[in-house]
Amino acid sequence: MLLDIRNITVYRGAVKVFDGFSLQIEAGCSTVILGPNGAGKSTLMKLLSNELHPVFSLDSHIRVFGRARWNVWDLRSQLGIISWDLQHDYLSCAMGLNVVLSGFYSSIDIWRNQTFSDTEYCKAEKVMESLGICDLKDREFGFMSTGEQRRFLLARALVSDSGTLLFDEPTSGLDLKATFLYLEQLVALMRSGKTVLLVTHHVHEIPPDIRRVVMLKDGKVFQDGTPEEMLTSEKLSQLFDYPVDVVSLRGVIHVFPQTGAEHRGSL
Ligand SMILES: Nc1ncnc2c1ncn2[C@@H]1O[C@H](COP(=O)(O)OP(=O)(O)OP(=O)(O)O)[C@@H](O)[C@H]1O
Ligand SMILES: [Mg+2]
Repeated sequence: MLLDIRNITVYRGAVKVFDGFSLQIEAGCSTVILGPNGAGKSTLMKLLSNELHPVFSLDSHIRVFGRARWNVWDLRSQLGIISWDLQHDYLSCAMGLNVVLSGFYSSIDIWRNQTFSDTEYCKAEKVMESLGICDLKDREFGFMSTGEQRRFLLARALVSDSGTLLFDEPTSGLDLKATFLYLEQLVALMRSGKTVLLVTHHVHEIPPDIRRVVMLKDGKVFQDGTPEEMLTSEKLSQLFDYPVDVVSLRGVIHVFPQTGAEHRGSL
């Protein structure tokens, strides 16, 4: 089991985000957690990576890979993570190549005691090539555009040997080409056996090989099922409280507003 959450209550500041929340995600089952702004998606990711903890209670637990207690670094080395927080917290003086190499240790930048084999350098080069960022490998992270930073963090997650990738809005800030390259990479990774846990409010970020869609709304599981069951016009309209039509073309899903411009103008 990748994630086993039973009956947890979680506060962020004074806000109670989860109240008696439960969710299980099987290992090997690539899943998307989809929901509107403020639903609790990023909070869920932080619980998984041990950045946040639920209120202590005897009848609740949170287990990741079957364990309730983790050394944070051991846990993070098993999870390739991409999130806004990571982008925000990443050292701006780190060189591009080092950002990618840090993925082998799940560290922020690389450190003198860390060593890298030729194979690891080759892998880093290959991933940078596939994401079109080789030219920027000597540039400092702080001197890159938002989308370029994101591509480096994507490369950092992709080089790691972790079998599970945790992505929180991975394509935010990426241009068209980079978004589609990301989708291609993700599909290839899933087919090579990696499990992806994707958290997003962007339907177009969902790769075709995702097996389960958990809809999260107001800190509760609103609906849960296969992409075929969940990614329908009706369910997405209910989830986002806005009437939309779903169009799927060559495996990529997009949504369009159902109502005309006159309705949108009145919002
Ligand atoms: N640091 C914080 N202090 C207080 N409340 C917070 C904090 N971070 C998040 N919240 C609140 O917790 C709730 C869940 O936030 P969360 O970031 O998990 O939402 P989300 O589903 O990731 O939304 P988004 O799609 O906007 O990223 C929201 O009501 C938010 O206002
Ligand atoms: Mg979020």
